[in-house]
Amino acid sequence: MSTLQSPGGDRPVRAEAVVDLAAIRHNVTTLRARAEGAHLMTVVKADGYGHGMVPVARAARAAGADWIGAAVLEEALALREAGDTGPIFCWLTTPGEPLEDAIAAGIDLSAGAPWEIDELAAGVTDRPARVHLKIDTGMSRGGAVPEEWPALVRAALAEQRTGRIEIKGIWSHLSSSDEPKSAANEAQLATFTEAIEVAESFGVDAEFKHLANSGATLALPETHFDLVRPGVATYGLSPFGHALPSAELGLVPAMTLKARFAMVKRVPAGAGVSYGLTWTAPRPSTLGLIPLGYGDGLPRHASNGAPVQAGGERRTVVGRICMDQCVVNLEDDPAAAGDEVVLFGPGTAGEPTADDWADAAGTINYEIVTRLGPRIPRRYVDSAAVPTAPVER
Ligand SMILES: Cc1ncc(COP(=O)(O)O)c(C=O)c1O
Repeated sequence: MSTLQSPGGDRPVRAEAVVDLAAIRHNVTTLRARAEGAHLMTVVKADGYGHGMVPVARAARAAGADWIGAAVLEEALALREAGDTGPIFCWLTTPGEPLEDAIAAGIDLSAGAPWEIDELAAGVTDRPARVHLKIDTGMSRGGAVPEEWPALVRAALAEQRTGRIEIKGIWSHLSSSDEPKSAANEAQLATFTEAIEVAESFGVDAEFKHLANSGATLALPETHFDLVRPGVATYGLSPFGHALPSAELGLVPAMTLKARFAMVKRVPAGAGVSYGLTWTAPRPSTLGLIPLGYGDGLPRHASNGAPVQAGGERRTVVGRICMDQCVVNLEDDPAAAGDEVVLFGPGTAGEPTADDWADAAGTINYEIVTRLGPRIPRRYVDSAAVPTAPVER
């Protein structure tokens, strides 16, 4: 009998992503301990990397997250609407967006060009805009390149003198913290330090200097400054993939993706499977039909190779992953429709992990969890199995 339950708890569901909030809290506690002396911002963009933005933000706050990080305005405003009154940083806006709503809601915003300072100042009504100046230290996404940094700093200081903005932070983002030994980290850190010195020489006194994402929080203490911004590690996934798995970092993966077989059938040798018949049964085989596909966020690139756990055995997706379904080769297992199949989880009960799916799809664990769509219900649990204190290493 399956353990999957419908949201009401009375009927079995097709599929679900079970999110362990105890794991989230544990990971936040672990990350805080790894960045002692710095404030911690838990990044919950993209619906909390697929785990559910508001429940994750609440769990993170409960575990002591000082800040919550959101990429876009809708996310930041939704957090406020959900009742989060703490510091929130939001860093990705486009011209003409309702900055005035975010400013009025006390959300910290980013500026990487003088025109963004102008937009922020224009959006001020009754309270100053809280601004973090972004220096592009070498990743060439947002932010002012070093040549344009002095102009950004001057523009921000001019508006600070009018009382319309408050310079709260100086920040940047690392391109290569998943490779802690990469020379790019050192180069970006040097550029960041120089930008801080330039800003301070102009008279900026920013409370929060921040640079570190998960990889840097875990492996590059020299990048911690006043505040760290881990995302993926919050969810118990390693930014280093198989090179340094979660367990070795003391992190507990929070999500388990499960489904129930919609059908199980025996096919003869030579039966082709799914679109294009890219897999053919080499012998009489039992096939299980998983009611999840790329319409739910499973990566089609993981066709013919993604691992699952069914009946306690590791089995493999065969044939192409379709929009709503995919097929597993159960070999000779005594399975039945309605039986549970685990696509990925923490890996502690022999089930595959998000890293295993990432390998099968040629991507990263981030994408495996983040792309799961709204058709999959999220169910929140609080597992007693997760240790409350950081795991000693
Ligand atoms: C600006 C910024 N800070 C922090 C993070 C968190 O990164 P990670 O999930 O690698 O910890 C992200 C995510 O990409 C980001 O865009």
